Amino acid sequence: MPEDFAPGPAPTRFGSNSGQPMTRRDGVAKVTGAAAFAADARPEGLLHAVVATSTVARGRVGVLDVAAALAHPGVLDVMTPTNRPALAADPDDKPHRFSFRFEALQDDRVRYAGQPIALVTAETPEAAAEGARLLAPRYEAEAPRLGFEGGVAYAPETVGIGSPPQFSRGDVEAGLATAARRIEAHYETPAQYHNAMEPHAVVAQWDGDRLILDLPHQAPVLGRAMFAAFFGAPPENVLIRTPFIGGGFGSKALVTGAHVLAVLAARKLGRPVKLALRRDQMFGPVGHRGATRQTLRLGIDAQGRLTALEHRSDGMTSSFDEFVEPAANASKNLYAAPAIAVSHGGVRADIGTPMAMRAPGEASGSAALECAVDEAALAAGLDPLAFRLLNYAETDPASGLPFSSKALRACYADGAGRFGWAGRPLEPRRMRDAQGRLLGWGIGTAQFPATMFAAQARATIRADGGAALEIAGVDMGQGAWTALAQIAADGVGLDAGRIELRSGSSDLPDGGIAGGSGHTATAGSALHAAGGDALAKLFEIAAADPASPLFGADNAGFVARDGRLRRRDDDSRSESYGEILARAGLSEVVGSGAASRPPSVAEACAMFAHGAVFAEVAVDPDLCQIRVTRMVGAFAAGRIVNPLLARSQLEGGMIWGLSFALHEEAEHDRVSGRVINADLAGYHVPSHADIPALDVLLVDEADAQVNPLGVKGVGELGITGAAGAIANAIWHATGVRARRFPIRIEALM
Ligand code: MOS
Repeated sequence: MPEDFAPGPAPTRFGSNSGQPMTRRDGVAKVTGAAAFAADARPEGLLHAVVATSTVARGRVGVLDVAAALAHPGVLDVMTPTNRPALAADPDDKPHRFSFRFEALQDDRVRYAGQPIALVTAETPEAAAEGARLLAPRYEAEAPRLGFEGGVAYAPETVGIGSPPQFSRGDVEAGLATAARRIEAHYETPAQYHNAMEPHAVVAQWDGDRLILDLPHQAPVLGRAMFAAFFGAPPENVLIRTPFIGGGFGSKALVTGAHVLAVLAARKLGRPVKLALRRDQMFGPVGHRGATRQTLRLGIDAQGRLTALEHRSDGMTSSFDEFVEPAANASKNLYAAPAIAVSHGGVRADIGTPMAMRAPGEASGSAALECAVDEAALAAGLDPLAFRLLNYAETDPASGLPFSSKALRACYADGAGRFGWAGRPLEPRRMRDAQGRLLGWGIGTAQFPATMFAAQARATIRADGGAALEIAGVDMGQGAWTALAQIAADGVGLDAGRIELRSGSSDLPDGGIAGGSGHTATAGSALHAAGGDALAKLFEIAAADPASPLFGADNAGFVARDGRLRRRDDDSRSESYGEILARAGLSEVVGSGAASRPPSVAEACAMFAHGAVFAEVAVDPDLCQIRVTRMVGAFAAGRIVNPLLARSQLEGGMIWGLSFALHEEAEHDRVSGRVINADLAGYHVPSHADIPALDVLLVDEADAQVNPLGVKGVGELGITGAAGAIANAIWHATGVRARRFPIRIEALM
C-alpha cells in the first residue's frame, strides 16, 4: 500500500514524469492567444467599469461632478462614498494577519495618490472612461508626508507576513566589542511595484444570490472566503474562476477594493461588470515592495569569523495599515554568527500600503546583507567566497536546529567552478575587457524558506485508463500546471499525457496559495496523495476479485506503473486500471488527498533552499555605464520536478535581481505624492539587451524532511543573492561601494 502522507524516508516517490524537462502543457495556448485570462470573459449584457483615482496624496475629495458623468451617453452609474451600497464586512477590518484594510469608498478621505475615489459603470469602456474624466474631482488637498524624512516613524507590532519584528540570539554588543574589526554600513532600497503583465481585472456577475467572478487570484479558495464575507454570502455561493494569470508576484494574493466595488456595481445594476485596472492604476491600490533603509553592523575576529551580526531595517508603509518589509529577517538564518540581532521599524507616509512582492523581505534584505558581508570580507582581507565559507552555518544560527538539507557548499563550489571565480584579484579595478572597460566579479548567497501550506486534492481514475486530478491551484505563468501534472501523473502511475489536471476554480479542493514559493510542494503533495488514495481503492477492488491477477495480494501490496497495478512481490502479475474498473462495473474510482507540514517537522529542523550567484559587470571608466556581462547561479532546492521550468524560474529570479540592482524604482513626486513613472516606459525593468548570458546550475539535494516529495520552491530563491552579487561586482570593477539601490551611473561618478 502507498505510505501515508507523512514525513518518511528519503524521497522515492518520483515516477517517470517528475524530473523530466517537459515543456509547458499550456505553452501552445499561451503563444497562440488561446489561453483565457479573467478579462477575456464576455458574459451577455456585460457592462464596463472604470475606477476614478485620486491625483492628490492627502486630503479630501471636495467636489465630484457626478451629474456630468451621469449625463454622458452610456454611463449608467456613478458610485461614490455617498451612495456606495453597504458591505457585510467592514473593509477597515483586518480579521487576520494576512488581511489588509482596503479602499472601497468608505469615506471621502484621500490617503494616497491613486486611491479609488469613485466607480463609473457604463455600456462601453470608452463611456466609462469618459464618465470618470467628467467627474473632474476638486480636492481639499493637504501637503503629503513623503519619504523617510517626511514620514512618521513608529514601532510596528507585526512585520510583513507575520514575522516577529525583533529577533536576537546571543549578545551582539559583546560580540561587537570583542571584534578585531567592525563594519557598519547603511543601505537603501526603493519602492518597487509588482507590474505583472496582466493588470488586475475582474468580471463580476450575479446569478440570483450566487456570485461568479472571473478574477486572477493566487489563492482561489481564500479569495472566495473573502468575497463571501464582504457580500454576506455562504462561500459555496461564490465562484472564482482564474483560468490563467499573467503574473501575480504577491499582488494577486488578496482582495482589492476596486474589485469589491465592481461586484457591488454588478449587483446594483443587475448585469455583469468588468473592471480592468489601467497600468498606472497598478501603482498604488494593489500593493508594492516598500522602501527600506537598512543598517548592518558586523564584527569579525582576527581570522575573519563573525563575532556579531546586527541587521536593522526601517520600512515605509501607508498611513493606515501595517505592512512593513521584513527585510532584516534575511540575516537570521544564513551566516554562523554567535550573536545575531534583527529588528524592524516602520515609517508612515501618504502612500498605498505595501504588500508581499516576490521574495518579500529576503530580496531587499539579502541585497544589503550580501553587500555588508563583502565589506566584512574586504576588512578581513579575504576573498568574498572564502569569507562566506569560513562563516558557513552548519546549523540554523537563529534556532540552533539542523537544516533539513543544505547543499550550499556544493552551490558555491559548482557556481565558482562554472564562473571561473578562482584567480579573482582581491583588489578592485584590476581587470579590464578588450574594450578597456573595468571588469568586476561579485558573489551573493541566495536563501529562501522552503515553505509548505495546507492543501487538498481529488483524483479520479476512469474506466478508459486515464485520470482527472483536481485542485484549486493556479498557474501564474511559472509553469505550475505542468510541474503539478507531472507530480500528479506519478501519483496515479500514468504518463502525464494521460491525465487531465483541472485547476483554477474555487469549487475544486483547496490547493492553498500560489505564493511563498510553496505551491509545487503543497499542491503537488496533495495531488500525489490523492492519486495514492485512488490507487489504493482500485487495488482493494482488484485484490478482492478472484478473476483478477491481483486477487489475494492484500498483504503483498502493489506498485502502480504505466496505468497498471502490479503485485509488489511479483511484477508480472498485473492488471490495467481499465480492466479492474470494467470487471467491477465501475466507471471510475475517486480518491482524495491532503498535505500539510506536521508541526513536529517544523520544530525539528530549519528548512531553506539555497544558492550562490556569481556576476560579472563591465563599467565604462569614463561614462560609468554599467553592464552585467554574465551571471552564474547554482541552486539547491531539493528534488527538481521539472529542470526546464525550474531553470526558467531561477533565471527569472536572477533577472529580477539584476533589475533590483540596476533598474527598478518608483519615484514619488515630492509635491503631489504621485508616482511619476507609473508606466513601463518610466518604470525601468530590464529589456533583453540588458540581460547577459545566464547560467543556471541545479545542484542535487535530497531532503527527507521538507515534505515526502522532497521538493523545495524555486519561485523566489533566484532573486535573493543576485542584487548583492551585482553590487559587489560593481565595487570590484570600480572600487566604489554603492549602498543605494538601484545603482545608477551617478553613484559611480
Ligand atoms: Mo509571492 S510574494 O509569495 O506571491
